[in-house]
Amino acid sequence: MARILDGKAIQQQILDELRPRIARLAALRRPPGLVAILVGDTPASQLYVASKVKTCRELGMYSEELRLPAAVSTEELLGHIRHFNERDDIDGILVQMPLPKHVDSRAVLLAIRPEKDVDGFHPFNVGQLVANAPAPRACTPAGVMELLRRSGIDPAGAEAVIVGRSDIVGKPMALLLLHAHATVTICHSKTRDLPAVCRRADILVAAMGKPAFITAEFIRPGAVVIDVGINRVTDRAEAERIARGAPAKLAAFEKNGSVLVGDVHPGDAAALAGAYTPVPGGVGPLTIAMLMANTVECAEKRLA
Ligand code: GUN
Repeated sequence: MARILDGKAIQQQILDELRPRIARLAALRRPPGLVAILVGDTPASQLYVASKVKTCRELGMYSEELRLPAAVSTEELLGHIRHFNERDDIDGILVQMPLPKHVDSRAVLLAIRPEKDVDGFHPFNVGQLVANAPAPRACTPAGVMELLRRSGIDPAGAEAVIVGRSDIVGKPMALLLLHAHATVTICHSKTRDLPAVCRRADILVAAMGKPAFITAEFIRPGAVVIDVGINRVTDRAEAERIARGAPAKLAAFEKNGSVLVGDVHPGDAAALAGAYTPVPGGVGPLTIAMLMANTVECAEKRLA
């Protein structure tokens, strides 16, 4: 039986470790403060931002949510960021990605002061990551590293294969695993014989945004399979394919008319992997935990 890597339990550990640090800052000056900026009304982004703000409040941190219409101009968004850069009570600024096509995302990420860049997306912080120097790290890959560490999985010497080369997950994930001494391969849509490359992996990270794409032929028996994807499937035939070996997925589909699934086939991961992250309840909770950790760290640097 594959071991299930319980992201929710590890999230709770991390949040519990943050509580005394938050209390100390609150006693010293004020609680850490985070602003989440949400552009447009994409349901998934709304859910993610709501979950981030809620976790802040549960921890006793200050949080604000700024919602802007999808038609907002780059200039207007930059104006808001400059305002939050100057606000003394705000330690972290997060702009939920992706932004609408007409918005200049690079200009937006450049505008956030690197000391308040709790997503680690500013080019300065990306440079710090490349150099393995201290700075806020992108939350999802940082969460995966915490999950591995706290599960007793050491990447040193392991073959790590990452499927997906995004700025948010694939690229920073590769650097973090490299710094942890893994032998790292990044795959993408042009990779030749992707299943064969993936089967080399001791640690396989799926982060390309295709529901249950990673099936048995991609998984080396006993591998650690980390599923970063989160996709909502509404097609019945697709739900039935995904539910093979994972009947709970079909039950969820019957109940709700849709089902959440990662980039890894859940039944195949359960049958073949040594350990794997479920969706939901795997990597997602770690992303939020690391955002909280980054915010507390930014606040400590500014206040302590
Ligand atoms: N979109 C998907 N993941 C993330 C994330 O970690 N941070 C932000 N800001 N947007 C995202």
